[in-house]
Amino acid sequence: MTRLRAAGCVFAEEETRLLISAARTPEELAAMVDRRVAGLPLEQVIGWAEFCGLRIAVDPGVFVPRRRTEFLVRQAVLARGGEEVARPGDVVVVDLCCGAGAIGAALAAALGGAEVHAVDIDPAAVRCAGRNVPGSVYQGDLYEPLPAALRGRVGILAANVPYVPTGEIGFLPPEARAHEPGVALDGGADGLDVLRRVAAGAPEWLAPGGHLLIETSERQAASAAAAFADSGLTSRVSRSDDLDATVIIGQARRRS
Ligand SMILES: C[S@@+](CC[C@H](N)C(=O)[O-])C[C@H]1O[C@@H](n2cnc3c(N)ncnc32)[C@H](O)[C@@H]1O
Repeated sequence: MTRLRAAGCVFAEEETRLLISAARTPEELAAMVDRRVAGLPLEQVIGWAEFCGLRIAVDPGVFVPRRRTEFLVRQAVLARGGEEVARPGDVVVVDLCCGAGAIGAALAAALGGAEVHAVDIDPAAVRCAGRNVPGSVYQGDLYEPLPAALRGRVGILAANVPYVPTGEIGFLPPEARAHEPGVALDGGADGLDVLRRVAAGAPEWLAPGGHLLIETSERQAASAAAAFADSGLTSRVSRSDDLDATVIIGQARRRS
């Protein structure tokens, strides 16, 4: 604990407890402490993160699921009226930009029986998500690797895309800057490049009445909502001050 505290770990006592329970031998514990002191995120050192009550495997170099993103999962369940899925395949969930696959795994658990598909461009994330998502995981650029048969069938399209403006990457905590890949963080000049592409492509994949949910920052919310409207979706902004989380929720038109 002394080494963690000296290295500036704010929750040194709790971290020590987690490291001790994750290590199988004293040598492994010493190596884990070394990695943590060197600045690796705790979750990449112990190999998992807690998310929506689940233990999500997190490999080195993969974006660590944040607690604020639990708000997106809750909003997705609410958007469906909180209903569980009656039969497998009744609801298709797509987790785009899935990272470790925390959102897809949590939605599968919350909805019980949804058909889940997840996509990431980073092979390390795809391997990691394969351990967490009870469904299919594909590598590629946004919608490109999804099976064409999903067009017009997706009930929940959830995406925690990279949304940090390029010029602000340097202000992120060193844990993120040094140990999470740039492709997981960098959202372009105003942080909304990937969000705009996801919103533009969504109508082709959403089922009538299906929902698109994307996490963003409070500051970006108005521009993000405008991108949803531009793609023909209804849109609203949902905010949790407790979690400092902002989610844009769009809905495809129902058949008239
Ligand atoms: C902010 S992280 C979020 C990861 C995960 N959704 C979560 O909440 O923990 C963004 C993820 O998007 C992926 N990504 C970035 N650009 C992408 C693209 N064009 N197509 C697919 N995935 C992409 C990154 O590799 C990274 O895993």
